[in-house]
Amino acid sequence: MPRCAVTRRVHFNAAHRLYNPRFSEQWNRETFGQCSNLNYHGHNYELELTVEGEIAPETGYVMDLNQLKELAQEHLIRHLDHQNLNLDVPWFQSLNPTSENIALVCWRELRPVVPAELALRVRLWETPRNYVDYEGA
Ligand code: NI
Repeated sequence: MPRCAVTRRVHFNAAHRLYNPRFSEQWNRETFGQCSNLNYHGHNYELELTVEGEIAPETGYVMDLNQLKELAQEHLIRHLDHQNLNLDVPWFQSLNPTSENIALVCWRELRPVVPAELALRVRLWETPRNYVDYEGA
């Protein structure tokens, strides 16, 4: 059966501050620069969700992208959109909300609800120039 990768792009706005509480304010400032500013800053995140698998002969789909959109809304976006990641989102209570860690969390939350036979990859754009990929490792 031919295989194909299909992608849905979703969006959320969120504020964060990069900060490791195990280290001093000075270390955080030197390590994270402006990203560690005390009063937070925002990003327009773009999240690309890619599932890969066999094209089902009955539908011609790998997965209904509308279903993927709804899973993303329910399991990711409603928890993240217009939130302060450090203060409002329990996933980041003790996890620095870098792009890497946000991508990892999104994959972890979505993986159990995407059909097991499909591979899942996430690409998180923090700015139009910076993105990270995670596919579970
Ligand atoms: Ni930032």
